[in-house]
Amino acid sequence: MSVTYHEATKHSYWSVRTEGGGLDWSRQPSPFKIYANAPLIPLDLDRPWHRFIYLLGGINASKSYPGITYYLRTIPSAGALYPIEIYFQARGHRDFADGIYHFDVANLGVRLLYELRDGEGVEYLFPDKRQVEGLLFLYSGIYYRSSWKYRTRAFRYLLLDGGHALGALEAAAFWINHGYQIRYRFDRAKLHHHFGFGQGEFFLASGVVGRFSDQEAQGLGMELDFVDGTGHFLPDPRIEEAYWDGIALRGCRLQPRFPQNPFQPQKLEEAILKRRSARDFTATFMKREQLEFLLHYMGDVIPSDCDEEVRIWTLVHRVEGMEPGIYLNGRLVKAGNFAKEGSYLCLEQEFVQRTAATFFLTSSGSNYQPLYQKAGHIGQRCYVGGSYLGLGVSGIGAYYDDEVARFLGTSEMVLYALALGSHSGG
Ligand SMILES: Cc1cc2nc3c(=O)[nH]c(=O)nc-3n(C[C@H](O)[C@H](O)[C@H](O)COP(=O)(O)O)c2cc1C
Repeated sequence: MSVTYHEATKHSYWSVRTEGGGLDWSRQPSPFKIYANAPLIPLDLDRPWHRFIYLLGGINASKSYPGITYYLRTIPSAGALYPIEIYFQARGHRDFADGIYHFDVANLGVRLLYELRDGEGVEYLFPDKRQVEGLLFLYSGIYYRSSWKYRTRAFRYLLLDGGHALGALEAAAFWINHGYQIRYRFDRAKLHHHFGFGQGEFFLASGVVGRFSDQEAQGLGMELDFVDGTGHFLPDPRIEEAYWDGIALRGCRLQPRFPQNPFQPQKLEEAILKRRSARDFTATFMKREQLEFLLHYMGDVIPSDCDEEVRIWTLVHRVEGMEPGIYLNGRLVKAGNFAKEGSYLCLEQEFVQRTAATFFLTSSGSNYQPLYQKAGHIGQRCYVGGSYLGLGVSGIGAYYDDEVARFLGTSEMVLYALALGSHSGG
């Protein structure tokens, strides 16, 4: 079914020219969800675990235009629409009392939604029910924020944005020197009921930053009221169908290994805080070691309970000591400078021509939601690693699907593209 969704939401040269429709500004969604009736605990950025939460998606820049200010975050988002919400459960944690919280990005704080009673916990909805001592994150997507602009293709962006948020969890875990693990297998419908979600918000993934104990969680008494996270809503049945048909995961492969942390903590924090999407690429050469560092990090394992293979294709345009061409796993597949083709394939976005390299991520896996989020996670690694090296990066969700596949010579689904290179830093 997810394959059907993927097929139905492909861009082509003709589809982008014939599927008109501008934005309805009278129905613009709010990018913030606020639990106004729950107590706000301001984040004290001098405390490491508070800062950890901030690094996961806090506001780190703003852009003002006459009459309007947009807030940008530590994580990128397709169209800066920010459909991802972050919740977490704390248990036995030194900085957060046992309970369930929501990260209130607009107010730089967390809201306590529910205090845990003895033995309770969301873990009862996971296969092994084992209590997590520490923090257990739950990531949801509010799809209308994105479908307002991107229509049905928005579900792909929701999954990519969700993957970026998981990549941010990894980076923050590296920064605080703690392990983490991603889990996709939990009872979504029951969890939605506990959180009072309407049809427009659903959980995408969870992340554990803690230790599993031998005790099992015994249910959860929490029943929250519905809180509107957009201000407007238009249902998209094809997105809801793709979500619900895709949550029954099959043949999941466990990836227990943890990636190598290639970063020095203080420089990593700076890289996370200054990360932006670049378009001001300078058409100059980058170093081969930089590309190798990035590819090594992007291709490293991601610990999760439903791992899928995602391939990283590299179009090398301007890398010192490397022949221009298409590379897969470090091997030259086809020689040539394809900077212009890369730009055309990414819906003629001109800045792609001036990059040093362009990545395309593909997969033939069957668990669509985990594999698409993995692509977003790899994208976040590219952003964080690029920012660490002083290079510019931009995620690219808009490309001509079938033409990219033909160009690469693959029958796999094309999930995401990323631009990389030196930039003027403006
Ligand atoms: C999934 C995804 C797809 C994106 N697609 C594009 C794109 O096609 N073209 C582009 O210029 N930027 C793209 N971006 C970058 C966003 O526009 C950018 O993240 C957003 O405006 C916020 O700005 P910031 O990343 O500088 O914080 C994409 C980002 C993500 C996460």
